[in-house]
Amino acid sequence: MSRETLVSSLPDLKKDDPRLRPTRISEMVGQRDVIERLRIAIDAAKQRGDVLGHILFDGPPGLGKTTFATCIPAEMEVRIDFLSGPSLKAPKDLLPNLTNLQHRQVLFIDEIHRIPKAVEEYLYTAMEDFRIDMIIGEGINGRTHSFNLKPFTLIGATTRAGMLTGPLRDRFQIREHLDYYNDAELTEIVLRNATKLAVEIDRESAVEIARRSRGTPRVANNRLRWIRDFAQSRASGRIDLQVAHDALRMAEIDERGLDRQDRRYLETLIRVCGGGPVGVETIAATMSTSSDTLEDDVEPFLLRSELILRTPRGRVATPRAFEHVGISAPHKSDSQRRLFDEPA
Ligand SMILES: Nc1ncnc2c1ncn2[C@@H]1O[C@H](COP(=O)(O)OP(=O)(O)O)[C@@H](O)[C@H]1O
Ligand SMILES: [Mg+2]
Repeated sequence: MSRETLVSSLPDLKKDDPRLRPTRISEMVGQRDVIERLRIAIDAAKQRGDVLGHILFDGPPGLGKTTFATCIPAEMEVRIDFLSGPSLKAPKDLLPNLTNLQHRQVLFIDEIHRIPKAVEEYLYTAMEDFRIDMIIGEGINGRTHSFNLKPFTLIGATTRAGMLTGPLRDRFQIREHLDYYNDAELTEIVLRNATKLAVEIDRESAVEIARRSRGTPRVANNRLRWIRDFAQSRASGRIDLQVAHDALRMAEIDERGLDRQDRRYLETLIRVCGGGPVGVETIAATMSTSSDTLEDDVEPFLLRSELILRTPRGRVATPRAFEHVGISAPHKSDSQRRLFDEPA
């Protein structure tokens, strides 16, 4: 069996297990500052009987954007409707969702940076004045009709805050960036979720899983579910350090928590591209994947781990990345010397 078929025959751990998603803000771990600011906004809106201001969450996948979006309406005691940017291809995909909104409810738009401009423009007045202006009729017979909407809260989520247009970004009263979680927070998530999954685990194994989860709750959950399956099928069902290590090794998760895709990225950058600088499109083409996948799923954690740098001339592998891949750093080019060394 090739490695590709081996990995694709593993159970589908990419999908989130709904049991593991917190339903109230009080069940969420970490993001203390974000939670404190949101609580103030929620309390104030509730006391005034007012609608909550529009909220934008940005940050890498798996850090809790959708979780926040589902917990907030629970706190506000209002309903939530879900939309996703890529599915809103034309105004007709958005408008009925706006006109049907109930008073104070939440409308969640995931991947909001992928809404086409022609659709996005309707959000401007909708968000600012709870109104949409539509031109009905063609040419000189065209008339603008205004429709009032019920006051509502838009919650947007994006992995690419930089791709949002200024007018849209400015209409969010609250903008929160979600950052990676530390090992203690991820350990807490692993321990809580082991209880939810009814699997026995000791603390040091939870710490080990946390440490190898790329700072990301979704990754921690996926690792935990895989190790639970492994423990059931290959061991006593209980997760101890030995089981955790064996299961992680089998899934090709390394000491830093990098998976095959992460390592392939580093190897492509280092072995094929000499460590860079090289454009992300070149790396993506060499790996036969999309640059979006790399920019969303792979690069943020490698950047954060100081394994790669983003420079105006392209991606560059740091000495730490060379060490991780097990290649001694080559004779440095002038540009690399400028990047890594003290000024002469
Ligand atoms: N703060 C948190 N506390 C506990 N679990 C979390 C937290 N944030 C995320 N998770 C877990 O990670 C999973 C993925 O989070 P999600 O909100 O879907 O990420 P995003 O929308 O940013 O990609 C959730 O189903 C949940 O189980
Ligand atoms: Mg999400």
